[in-house]
Amino acid sequence: MKARPIRERVHWMGAVDWNRRLFDSLIPLPDGTSYNAYLVRGSQKTALLDTVDPTLQDELLAQLADVPSLDYVIAHHAEQDHAGAIPAVLAKYPAARLVCTPKAQGLLVDHLGVDADRIQTVADGDTLSLGDRTLRFLHTPWVHWPETMVTHLPEERILFTCDFFGSHVATTDLYAGTGERICEAAKRYYAEIMMPFRGVIRKNLAKLEGVAFDVIAPSHGPIYDQPECILNAYRDWVSERIANQVVIPYISMHGSTARMVDHLLGALVERGVGAQKFELSVTDLGKLAIALVDAATIVIGTPTVHLGPHPLVYSAAHLANALRPKLKYAAIIGSYGWNTKSVEQLSGLIPDLKVEVLGAVLCKGLPRSETLAALDALADTIAARHSQLA
Ligand code: FEO
Repeated sequence: MKARPIRERVHWMGAVDWNRRLFDSLIPLPDGTSYNAYLVRGSQKTALLDTVDPTLQDELLAQLADVPSLDYVIAHHAEQDHAGAIPAVLAKYPAARLVCTPKAQGLLVDHLGVDADRIQTVADGDTLSLGDRTLRFLHTPWVHWPETMVTHLPEERILFTCDFFGSHVATTDLYAGTGERICEAAKRYYAEIMMPFRGVIRKNLAKLEGVAFDVIAPSHGPIYDQPECILNAYRDWVSERIANQVVIPYISMHGSTARMVDHLLGALVERGVGAQKFELSVTDLGKLAIALVDAATIVIGTPTVHLGPHPLVYSAAHLANALRPKLKYAAIIGSYGWNTKSVEQLSGLIPDLKVEVLGAVLCKGLPRSETLAALDALADTIAARHSQLA
């Protein structure tokens, strides 16, 4: 795909990665992704904002074939999907300077082998004149690495945000409009990548409130030509609002844990509590992460394997702990064969979830009437706690 104009002096560049299905060998990409770079031509100087994943750098280099000189490459973020083609771009333009935050400098040298002499660091609020266009750099740390920043182009009222507000979507649509698909993809992106940094992202959002822009141009997914929708979504996701929802990741080996999960789910619904269950051998972890964005409670359902939780539950609990969602309450349910230490082991896996543990319902073998009664009591407790949510 050729470069596409956003404004007379601003072009989208980059690559759409239609076939990628996994990021970091961990995160599912059901809709592929894109790596957006942007070319800004001032009356005197030209800058490229971000690059692409090195696997698709030839596409970027082909787009740059019509660009005779480049003065600056702006690196908002040192991760490879945006910075990976920087060495190739710097090799093509030997006079170009690489502009980044002081924290990014070492990362770009360490991760990409960039020559430190080519790097020019910028402080928060610094500007760089391209002639009749100006780049203003705003440090926005921890979205989602420590070195991240965004760039404001005041003359065009565009904010270039790299990962911030991004969405993993492969599409030929240049603009997001208010499409539902993009909001879902952006929530998935937030849940998987940004949620652990919710507090600092809230501060970065507040910082952007004073910046005048009409367009947000991220480096994944379409450009937000109506940015209020994504800004409002982020404001909600990082807020203290918690939904009357229970998330139940579980697995069942012989059906007993599944029966317990279904009983609890029905009991919750009867009590006016929303619930979603995720069978971990088939679930999309991205869907689970989305559900965790604003749920109040997690109930982990596991059978016992060699005294501990099933390995897939182990993995999901570790992930939930790492994502640090807003959860306020947790419980564990499941069955075991002859003995279990699942509760002790699972509790040790979620130290970063600042939750009140509402209890555990475990049964030896098949769930019986007393098991179902204990699940009903757990549903009562959850409903009572949720009735106190603001
Ligand atoms: Fe899209 Fe953190 O890289």
